[in-house]
Amino acid sequence: MKTVLLNPGPVNVSPRVREALAGPDLCHREPEFFDLQDGIRQRLLQAFRAPAGEYTSVLLTGSGTAMVEAMTSSAVPEGGRLLVVQNGVYGERIARIARVHGIAHDVLECSPMERPPLDALATRLARTRYDALAIVHHETTTGLLNDLAPVAALCRRNGTRVLVDAVSALAGESFDFTALAPDAVACTANKCVQGLPGLSFALVRREFMDAMRGYPERTLYLHLPRHHADQEKRSTPFTPAVQVAYALRAALDELVDETVEGRVARYRRASAIVRDGVAALGLDLLLPPALRSTTLTAIALPRQLGYPALHDALKRDGFVIYAGQGPLAATLFRVATMGAVREDDYRRFVRCLGVAIGRA
Ligand SMILES: Cc1ncc(COP(=O)(O)O)c(C=O)c1O
Repeated sequence: MKTVLLNPGPVNVSPRVREALAGPDLCHREPEFFDLQDGIRQRLLQAFRAPAGEYTSVLLTGSGTAMVEAMTSSAVPEGGRLLVVQNGVYGERIARIARVHGIAHDVLECSPMERPPLDALATRLARTRYDALAIVHHETTTGLLNDLAPVAALCRRNGTRVLVDAVSALAGESFDFTALAPDAVACTANKCVQGLPGLSFALVRREFMDAMRGYPERTLYLHLPRHHADQEKRSTPFTPAVQVAYALRAALDELVDETVEGRVARYRRASAIVRDGVAALGLDLLLPPALRSTTLTAIALPRQLGYPALHDALKRDGFVIYAGQGPLAATLFRVATMGAVREDDYRRFVRCLGVAIGRA
């Protein structure tokens, strides 16, 4: 039986993406690899409609955290200061990255059940000069989608760069590069992009990439301008995950064909099946509709059933659900609607969930 992954990545991929892994053995110093790298970088700009004159793309071997760390540690000038918006585990991780790299920073800590209060943010930005602000687009902790537009507008007014962790959002949620004009956006291959784990990427304003070249080099491997400068010269500083790159190119071809709008609409249909089905079973959703992402639904565990028993029952039926994180672990489970999964599979999941909780 095929396992349907309802965890928020790595996701089920299409046969075409999986088969691409079996491409030819390839030395990463040969022109064939640089054609592959160039193709991926160009398709990223194309798929996300990031204006090519203003944005550039950069690839990195490593999971989403590697790119979030590369972006954050490269983005603050000598003596500069970062503001981290934290309303979940991944915002907290960005603050940890800043700490590890000795970057002066403050944290705007908000409830994981709310979007950051804009008045508090405006006050912070007006009182203190921040070179950059980092925010998570979709907090996978709860399934909360932060509203980037007013945050980006406040930052623009204060001359503060905007860094976005869009690891669990890009390709699964609407993201308008022209309207938002973010400075850097980090993402991974193996969530809504529907590639395989091992590669991450960022879309960065060209002018910001140039500015970062003058900032301190806080890490050897994760210094973003190093990767970018080499990739611009059809080179690479280190050994990349070549076969995962074959799969990413295939995934991006599929994304360009489906379009981001088409994929968001498909994920929206999937999350509606899950949410309507769960509500009909009498289970509560953690967040009110206005705060929910398209790509993940956090659901209260039924009182009589702990997470391990629910997980194991559904796994026997071919579905992998995901536990709550941190303090939410005891009360929640999560269902992602990302990846190459058919609507019928989500319908069957709802039926199996009903049986597992004794409400079928
Ligand atoms: C919003 C967000 N940021 C960062 C990460 C970390 O990505 P990875 O596990 O690929 O390092 C995740 C993973 O789920 C995430 O959801």
